Amino acid sequence: MQVFQQIDEARNWVRQQRAAGHRTALVPTMGALHQGHLSLVELGRQRCEKTIATIFVNPTQFGPGEDFEQYPRLPEEDLQLLRQVGTDAVFLPDAAAMYPTGFSTAVSPPDVAGDLEGRLRPGHFSGVATVVLKLFQILPATHAVFGRKDYQQLLVIAAMVRDLNVDIEIIDAPIVREADGLALSSRNRYLSQDERQSAKRLSAALQACCDAFADGNRDADDLQSIMHAVLTESGKSHPPVDSIDYAVVRGADDLRVLNTVTADAVALIAAKVGSTRLIDNRVIGNT
Ligand code: PAJ
Repeated sequence: MQVFQQIDEARNWVRQQRAAGHRTALVPTMGALHQGHLSLVELGRQRCEKTIATIFVNPTQFGPGEDFEQYPRLPEEDLQLLRQVGTDAVFLPDAAAMYPTGFSTAVSPPDVAGDLEGRLRPGHFSGVATVVLKLFQILPATHAVFGRKDYQQLLVIAAMVRDLNVDIEIIDAPIVREADGLALSSRNRYLSQDERQSAKRLSAALQACCDAFADGNRDADDLQSIMHAVLTESGKSHPPVDSIDYAVVRGADDLRVLNTVTADAVALIAAKVGSTRLIDNRVIGNT
């Protein structure tokens, strides 16, 4: 596995793969890798001859008071895991290479960034869109793989690629979960044992929403109330979440507000357990 820190070296490697006729999959990450990230590499390997992962904890997508400083950084473990799943190359730039003195351009994210994470984390999607577009420019891959775990992020990137005519195919990957339903996340390692129990409520709430939909409930308010109830009700073996940022049912394509859930929809939750903010989602339409 090749490991590049310099932009030019990484770019040349991708260019060589393209020149050799290889489809090349880019897998952007912020490291602290788990099976969710590795599943993206595996999907890239299924669809393309070559795969390059990136590890960069992007400062511009963290707001003031968020966990940029504490975000786990485990480059040796990450490289080991990437090697094990057969990644061909890894790009690990430092912040000075990505944001040299004088850097001042930013992508204004598409409309789909406006609500939910975008409303609660001002500037977040501009930071994500900017760094992802930079990675697309640095590493001119044929494909890029993103997880549905960050559902709104996936829509933001797909819209940016469409709107700015970026020549890359986006592959979306299913959410990888623990056996008890908890979606894998680099932030799960912040959770204490008790918090880990409470964190199960996010996937349980999404499950309850899907069950109600399967039983014929099509009322978005009802479905949202069901999720709120699962997240907050006491008297369970594990404590409720500490706060809910949102627990909503939206249009799956554009996150539009729905009254009646008739077509494709997605249930999305952001909630805090202790000081850890967790997100999860499930597509519920047509199930
Ligand atoms: P990060 O949170 O490290 O996630 C990298 C990729 O892994 C994203 O596409 C995310 O959706 C995917 N992922 C995370 N957990 C997953 C899970 N349990 N199942 C499936 N996929 C999962 O998302 C980012 O980094 C950054 O915003 C980035 C796109 C790299 C830009 O800085």
